[in-house]
Amino acid sequence: MRYLILIRKVLLLLLFLPPILLNGQVTRQPYLQVMTPTSVVVSWQSDKGVVGKVCYGTSISSLTMSKIESETKEIYHEVSITGLIPYTKYYYSVNGSSEGTENQYFITNPYPDSITPVRMWVIADFGQSNSDQNERRLETVAQWKSFNNNNYHADILLSLGDQTEDDSRYQLQHNYFNQLENVLKNTALFTVIGNHDNHDGMLNYLSTFALPANAESGGIASGTEKYYSLDYANIHIVVLCTEIMDDDGKKKQIEWLNKDLDCNKQDWLIACVHRPFHSGGHHRSDVDKDAQERRTTWLPILEQHGVDLILQGHNHIYERSYLLDNLIGKTTTLSDANVIDSGLGREDMDGAYLKEKHTPNQGTVFVEVPGGGVASESFEHYSIFPIHYNGYDYEGSLVVDVYGNRMDVKFLCNERDENGSHIWDYFTIIKK
Ligand SMILES: [Fe+2]
Ligand SMILES: [Fe+2]
Repeated sequence: MRYLILIRKVLLLLLFLPPILLNGQVTRQPYLQVMTPTSVVVSWQSDKGVVGKVCYGTSISSLTMSKIESETKEIYHEVSITGLIPYTKYYYSVNGSSEGTENQYFITNPYPDSITPVRMWVIADFGQSNSDQNERRLETVAQWKSFNNNNYHADILLSLGDQTEDDSRYQLQHNYFNQLENVLKNTALFTVIGNHDNHDGMLNYLSTFALPANAESGGIASGTEKYYSLDYANIHIVVLCTEIMDDDGKKKQIEWLNKDLDCNKQDWLIACVHRPFHSGGHHRSDVDKDAQERRTTWLPILEQHGVDLILQGHNHIYERSYLLDNLIGKTTTLSDANVIDSGLGREDMDGAYLKEKHTPNQGTVFVEVPGGGVASESFEHYSIFPIHYNGYDYEGSLVVDVYGNRMDVKFLCNERDENGSHIWDYFTIIKK
């Protein structure tokens, strides 16, 4: 009889245990990837092997739908949810709760080609350096939130490589996920691989991040998570891998890039790379033979397909070019033919940069995005960069807004400038 009473007590206890214990403690907050108009991948980590389950729904108080990962118990979870309604906000939980929380949600992508305001937050080299830079990382996130109407959410987060210093799981958690978790739980993350993420044949990187190898978010399938493309509204984004060193791999990437861009019909084209095409930072592109090879092989393809913005990482400084075309050689080879508009592209000064829609070689702006947690000094100041900040204190990030025919780009520096502003640079491109 005593045993029966004990069993009854245990059963009652299990019944009233909070869902978090049944589903394991969440030790890495959820992050959202491969967002499309009708699907999303939700990833997180638990403290022990459990069957992963995502509950979701459009009402915060009642998450009526759910998706189970598989019957296998896992610590690292990756759940793909399909059959969603485009451009719709869903709340979700990963701890078994049927109730949502205010800040944990995803918004599915709008249909490609649609005209809607889009805000992208761009970070680079965010997880690099050791944990003593955590305060700087948190400051970068705080400046973003403050700029973004006290809100962490972006339509897209682009992370330009070096998500870790030594490519360890510990650093990924402590240098990257811990600082970004408030953003990642409601913003679609698209990463670029950096040299610091590649100490192990990209194994750790590729198992941590889910990326659209099969054109899930638009574009042409690359068949690999190392490089890929995506569409969001009227924007096409290509993410290239600078860490592929073998000739066959390089050739395949170029073939895919050509195919992908030949099929692209979106109004805007943004290219993301870790190692820069042009930069006078620590890894100077004028003396780097790999940079010359990237310029020779990739840049003409991008420019022939009308690339508007090239986002680069790796050097932990802020540099921004004026509107340039066909600068395949070193910056010292610059001639008048390369200069489409030598102004600052500011409407309140010398006017926005103007481009024709769907027309090749109309000019590109190169931006070296500063480190989110670590800043460096540059070696040289190349003349193609009218805006150039050189120093150890200038961590920050980039905000890219696109709405219809207009693109606005801003550099948010963690420091204030002499006018007390965190916006250290801005420019506009308008498509005619
Ligand atoms: Fe770096
Ligand atoms: Fe790097």
